[in-house]
Amino acid sequence: MRKTIIAGNWKMNCIRSEAKSLVEDLKVKTAGNTDAVDVLVCPPFTSLTLVAELLEGTGIKVGGQNLFWKDKGAYTGQISAPMLVDAGCEYVVIGHSEPRGRFGVAEPDFTPEILAFFGDSDATVNRKLHAALKGGLKPIVCVGETLAERQAGNTDSVISTQTTAALKDITAEQAANLIFAYEPVWAIGTGEVCEAGEADRVCGVVRSTVAALYGPEVAEQARVQYGGSVKPDNAVDLLSRPNIDGALVGGASLKATDFAAIIAAAPELQK
Ligand code: PGA
Repeated sequence: MRKTIIAGNWKMNCIRSEAKSLVEDLKVKTAGNTDAVDVLVCPPFTSLTLVAELLEGTGIKVGGQNLFWKDKGAYTGQISAPMLVDAGCEYVVIGHSEPRGRFGVAEPDFTPEILAFFGDSDATVNRKLHAALKGGLKPIVCVGETLAERQAGNTDSVISTQTTAALKDITAEQAANLIFAYEPVWAIGTGEVCEAGEADRVCGVVRSTVAALYGPEVAEQARVQYGGSVKPDNAVDLLSRPNIDGALVGGASLKATDFAAIIAAAPELQK
């Protein structure tokens, strides 16, 4: 039985006062409605401790948006798994398309040199996954194709390549407990949602990649979220599909009413 999991990715939004009002609002709007689903929010690093404290005792957990694979040392600007745990995180998002330098909304002034700044690759995603698991965090591993890759007919190969690379040297037991997020890059922040049937099909590609590596039982246990312009009005259609076990929500997670409505769409949908 796979429990539906709804995650809010706040990205680079919310100074602490804004984080506080969003969380207070969310607590009211989700009251009593977070038992049947796993719910978490991923604020920026600067608000993690505040949000974790405010959410203590509620059903809503906290996650980091990224991490570095070393525990500590001379790695200026990086945050480690033990630091995320210390800040109150239970989860961490790994390999999101933005830190991979793959943006849904075009950034015309991001030249190739600037894009290289967003340096996540399949190899760093794998290192980060190992670090997260070693640190006791629950990772959400993101995969997704760009519009150009989709138009070239490469969606399935991109998804299976990214999934396979992320899982290098991960055990079957670890894989069974993982959360993946299929996020078509062209649907992120664009308002352009992937049609639910196609989102379900590609989430199935993630699952069959896991099955090819570890067997069907492991693949049946691992959860696969869909992410990319999930909103209250498309949440039920997406979440009711057999291969979609939850949502990774960006823009709509910044509005308590919308995020609560997406959570409310989920409870009856264990798969
Ligand atoms: P979006 O972002 O819901 O704003 O499209 C999703 C994500 O990037 O996780």
